[in-house]
Amino acid sequence: MLAAYDATMARLLDRAGIDALLVGDSLGTVILGYDTTLPVTLDVMIHHSRAVSNGAKRALVIADMPFLTYQVSVSETVRNAGRLIQEGGAAAVKLEGGAAVADSVRRLVDVGIPVMGHVGLTPQSVHRLGGYRAVGKTPREASEIIEDARAVERAGAFAVVLESIPDAVAAAITAELKIPTIGIGAGPACDGQVLVSYDAFGLFDVFVPRFVKQYARLGEAMVNAAKEYIADVQQGKFPGGEHSVSMEQPVKKEQPVKNEQPVKNEQPGKKAAG
Ligand code: KIV
Repeated sequence: MLAAYDATMARLLDRAGIDALLVGDSLGTVILGYDTTLPVTLDVMIHHSRAVSNGAKRALVIADMPFLTYQVSVSETVRNAGRLIQEGGAAAVKLEGGAAVADSVRRLVDVGIPVMGHVGLTPQSVHRLGGYRAVGKTPREASEIIEDARAVERAGAFAVVLESIPDAVAAAITAELKIPTIGIGAGPACDGQVLVSYDAFGLFDVFVPRFVKQYARLGEAMVNAAKEYIADVQQGKFPGGEHSVSMEQPVKKEQPVKNEQPVKNEQPGKKAAG
């Protein structure tokens, strides 16, 4: 699984054979430039989900439920998840948390909305966690995470993301659960893996988490391409003849182009507006 936010990226990843595309609320940092995912709204998620759904023809599209859209009440959760499906075109939703969100997960599944869980480091709880840090390193934290994973499975989630937890804890959860675990910073024992596409392709370089492997350096390639374009324009090399439109018959200079009216009351030395 890879996180994608627009139709072009979705189309390319779909073509590469990706199983699932996550419209992650990580778009808050990667696309919108915020420090956290907390300012991301439901309308923004719907907008990007629609784009990804338009681009993906084969991959499963899963949309993140943003902060405060599933914590208030179960009925509000159903309405908000329903909008991601109905307006955003997603086939499933993902929400962060374990035991605390189990009732909402159960209700969503009951009404026909597939749910992916997300336990371990849950970025929407950044302030409670005191920053983005690996969790589950102590026996107490590890057993809380294992219990959270069990809770989302019992509630009917079809898969669960395990984020930034020790490999051994992820391996224990993967061995115990029947649903697939999808890891990010959770080691190789998970059933699947997820990365943010902008991280994996070297586009987002504000910070690169330790668990990211850069499969390309598209950021560098874009900077170089932009420099080349700027130089071409400045040196008159672009656009060339092959990028330009020529007329079928050359226009004679003294012959006015059809429909063009002479400009009235033109002041000497001034160009007419428009
Ligand atoms: O928002 C996101 O992209 C995510 C993944 C990192 C799992 O939740």
